[in-house]
Amino acid sequence: MKKHPDIEEILLTENQIKRKVGEIARQLNRDYKNKKPIIVSVLKGSVVFLCDLIRKLEFDHIIDFISVSSYANATESSGVVRLLMDLRESIVGRDVLIVEDIVDTGLTLAYLKRNLLTRKPKSLKICVLLDKKECRKQFIKVDYVGFTIPNKFCVGYGLDYRQLYRNLPYIGILKPQVYRRK
Ligand code: IMP
Repeated sequence: MKKHPDIEEILLTENQIKRKVGEIARQLNRDYKNKKPIIVSVLKGSVVFLCDLIRKLEFDHIIDFISVSSYANATESSGVVRLLMDLRESIVGRDVLIVEDIVDTGLTLAYLKRNLLTRKPKSLKICVLLDKKECRKQFIKVDYVGFTIPNKFCVGYGLDYRQLYRNLPYIGILKPQVYRRK
């Protein structure tokens, strides 16, 4: 696919992502063998990752969705996390795996973990495709990580800026003039 004109640089190609998703799936296949977890996808950014990931999983599982917001159309976290849509399934006594696109400040995942733990799951683990390690404001243990990336605002493969660019098959860095333009 040709580079989108708003993208400055491709950080991770379609092939690099595909290989990494395969690696993560292999770890999950090992760790969740003979278990039947609930995979909680955090809307909307993680859906592309989720769809590719679950097609490589060899254990039974169900998927459910939760939606939180902390960015509200900006490129920096507001620091306030809000629950926009809750799970449909009960997670009491279940193995739960949160699938998220990216961990940045850590506030979103810390909030989600706190919230889900109050519902008494049997286990709770976190899987993220991207980790902006240097941006952490709150410690959060991430059990499965795809790539550690620099502190640059990325889009593509589910990640958005103002709801756009989720369809790009690669992960790219937005041109700074795009923020100024919109
Ligand atoms: P945190 O609460 O700061 O860790 O941010 C997590 C959420 O912020 C993710 O679910 C993303 O929706 C969003 N986010 C963080 N960094 C980026 C980025 O570089 N591009 C797009 N969304 C991002």
